[in-house]
Amino acid sequence: MAASAPGKLILFGEHAVVFGEPALSTAINLRAEVYARPHTEWLVDGASLEESRFRYVKAAVAKAKPDGPLWIEIRSMVPSGAGLGSSAAVTVATLGALHGLQGSIERDKRKWFVHRTALPPLDLVVGNTGIGAATGPLVAKVKDRVDRDPLAAEAIRQIGEITLDGVRALQRKDLVAAGKLMDRNHTILTDLGVGHPSLDRLVEAARPSSYGAKLTGAGGGGSIVALTDRPSVTAEAIRAAGGKAFIVQSDSLGVAKLG
Ligand code: MEV
Repeated sequence: MAASAPGKLILFGEHAVVFGEPALSTAINLRAEVYARPHTEWLVDGASLEESRFRYVKAAVAKAKPDGPLWIEIRSMVPSGAGLGSSAAVTVATLGALHGLQGSIERDKRKWFVHRTALPPLDLVVGNTGIGAATGPLVAKVKDRVDRDPLAAEAIRQIGEITLDGVRALQRKDLVAAGKLMDRNHTILTDLGVGHPSLDRLVEAARPSSYGAKLTGAGGGGSIVALTDRPSVTAEAIRAAGGKAFIVQSDSLGVAKLG
């Protein structure tokens, strides 16, 4: 039993999506593979399933309810802690391998509506600041601002519009327009308080060789994404500015059985 699942990037709309605005996320060509076969005891990469680093695997196993213990091996190309959804990729690949994949997404009693849209293949460079920032407090900070400040609520609405304009720009392959929208999305997120000087440094480094660049994910540290047709130049600029760079492409392949 084996399956793979992709990492992901948020191209537009993070934080605003928490308030019901649209966001655009794409699968990328970096994947996690999970292999599972019956065994005499539970083992993940030769270690105990109880280790905290395997909590996502454990949760997926609990959901899939296999008949007996399994030997599980994870091979992931998705760098962890870079905002590329590495834990989600491992979780989904585990569910895929164990045939336990469920269709509906529900969190905090809120329904999330997932629509598919066709995008052209995109060359993207992720720049990781190396600064870890937990998502929960950043989401809470934005909520606090939105509750107190009508301008912040308006900023959330503008991000929703930028997202829809961004989808349309990408669909018509207008990378110049899409890049400008990414730049604007970054400014608004920074104004909402989820920026960081190191994110600005990487965005500034990436922009001369890119159509546009913005923070991706929760912010406060974490990563930026740049849309470019010169990925190696952009990656080099990000490294020169002190970031870790990953060249990726958008991809339409979701979870897939292996073998
Ligand atoms: C974090 O990757 C994206 C946020 O929009 C939070 C969320 O949607 O869960 C900031």
